[in-house]
Amino acid sequence: MTATSPYVYSNEHSRAKDHLSLLAEMLDAHSTARLATLRVPLRDARCLEIGAGGGSIARWLADQVGPGGHVVATDIAPVDIPAHPRLEVRTHDVVSEEVPAGPWDVIHTRLVLMHLPQRRDVLRKLAGSLRPGGVLLVEDMDMSWRDGRSMRAPTPEDAVRYERHHDMVIRIFEQAGVELAWASRVPQAMEDAGLVDVTSSIRGDGWPGGTAGALFIYGGSIQLDDKLRQAGATPQELDRVRELMHDPRMMIRMSPLMQTAGYRP
Ligand SMILES: C[S@@+](CC[C@H](N)C(=O)[O-])C[C@H]1O[C@@H](n2cnc3c(N)ncnc32)[C@H](O)[C@@H]1O
Repeated sequence: MTATSPYVYSNEHSRAKDHLSLLAEMLDAHSTARLATLRVPLRDARCLEIGAGGGSIARWLADQVGPGGHVVATDIAPVDIPAHPRLEVRTHDVVSEEVPAGPWDVIHTRLVLMHLPQRRDVLRKLAGSLRPGGVLLVEDMDMSWRDGRSMRAPTPEDAVRYERHHDMVIRIFEQAGVELAWASRVPQAMEDAGLVDVTSSIRGDGWPGGTAGALFIYGGSIQLDDKLRQAGATPQELDRVRELMHDPRMMIRMSPLMQTAGYRP
């Protein structure tokens, strides 16, 4: 967390690398499928990846652009992204700093803007640094869809425990400035920023205990331990929910990933 970025997790946490690689396991197939069908060809493209985290998408882009392209990956706290000849990693705060000099053919950002209270200004800034015809792809989770998050549980009480835990996590996110339904409002924000041909799709999966999505919730719960206890979670319920995240009889529905693309006229 910094003055401009109230991001609830920290890339310095001992679990951060695991957390980011679970995100990659959960979402990369969805993200790369969408990136591969943009109207702008990735071959030879100049790409900017904002809030790159573990860098799996930045490295995938670096493979796609070929020798004629280039990828810049930024993060306020970059983790060790393995080197790639066409990838440059920069420490950069997308809120307080200028967008790295473009103009860019493709700008991608996943699970970053939802965390930033200045998200609309940041989106406008990113849109303005595209070349004419360039594309901005914003992927964020809509955390406002709460019904049915527990898709299957060993007991009805366990389903309630999981949902109560998730409600507390959501409140912590909200207190840190997350706009829960932002992901579904990105099309409007893109239109307001002057982008055209805006399209949006929804992706998501159910995750049994022990698989990436449930282990991601487990890791998040450990990282937010202090805040969850302050919010009233008891040690027993935290233990039980964390156990459930390893129990294959449990299945959770992750908040849906909204993928919204808009083009600079
Ligand atoms: C939930 S992670 C997502 C990482 C990656 N985009 C992914 O989807 O796998 C959010 C990332 O945004 C970065 N971040 C938070 N605030 C930022 C800011 N103001 N400028 C740039 N990056 C930021 C965090 O350090 C973290 O790596």
